[in-house]
Amino acid sequence: MKLYFSSKIFQKALAAFSGGFLVLFLVGHLAGNLQLFIPGELGQKQFNAYALFMTTNPAVIALSYVTYTSIILHSILTVYLVIKSKFARPIKYQVSSGNSNSSWASRNMAFLGTMLLIFIIIHLRSFWYEMHFGDIGIDKWGNKDLHTVTVSAFQNIFYTGFYILSMLMLSFHLSHGVGSAFQTLGLNTSKYEKSITFFGKGIAIIIPLIFATIPIVLYVR
Ligand code: HEM
Repeated sequence: MKLYFSSKIFQKALAAFSGGFLVLFLVGHLAGNLQLFIPGELGQKQFNAYALFMTTNPAVIALSYVTYTSIILHSILTVYLVIKSKFARPIKYQVSSGNSNSSWASRNMAFLGTMLLIFIIIHLRSFWYEMHFGDIGIDKWGNKDLHTVTVSAFQNIFYTGFYILSMLMLSFHLSHGVGSAFQTLGLNTSKYEKSITFFGKGIAIIIPLIFATIPIVLYVR
């Protein structure tokens, strides 16, 4: 058992699985957040009822714990693997391959991941913390008014800009991460290579792009 945990392949597979789960989380989170596009009182009523369901339903609460664990596991494992690979080669390559055979994203995954972790901490403080522990108002229907908290946050141009920039980081992180996870799990065989690259790049564009439109729409509305 101890051998498994200390094996690099096992650690990389766990990083790939936790990253994969986080992509699934993002798809679900994005689908729920689309309700923020609904204007007026209907949007407020629906979003607050949804937020209540998401924080009280036992199955969703269990999934939330998987999400928190995946964020922590993915961060610790990937940082550990980066540090370990640096120590494995303390002397830099004499000739840097530069842009020729690796993308900017692949060479900056640790930086992108750190920026995303900072984003997640600020994001959870703004909304998750307010929903669970904040002294926020109650809407007409008797639910916690997370809708007003969310809409108000995006009236600030700097906060909105920070989200747009973070979604750009997410896009780069996913553009390398998705393909890399398939490779780690040994699924990136020559037969599927093209489809996996297409799928990875597609996800990396579509998810952050739709996420980024939410703060923009809330800011200009
Ligand atoms: C840009 C648009 C986004 C909006 C408007 C938004 C909004 C929210 C809101 C209102 C909550 C609290 C309600 C709840 O717990 O369900 C929340 C929770 C959360 N958000 Fe976001 N979010 C956005 C993007 C993201 C992104 C890109 C990530 C990850 C990179 C993320 C990660 C999380 C996490 C981990 C939680 C806690 C979920 C849980 O407790 O299970 N969010 N978000």
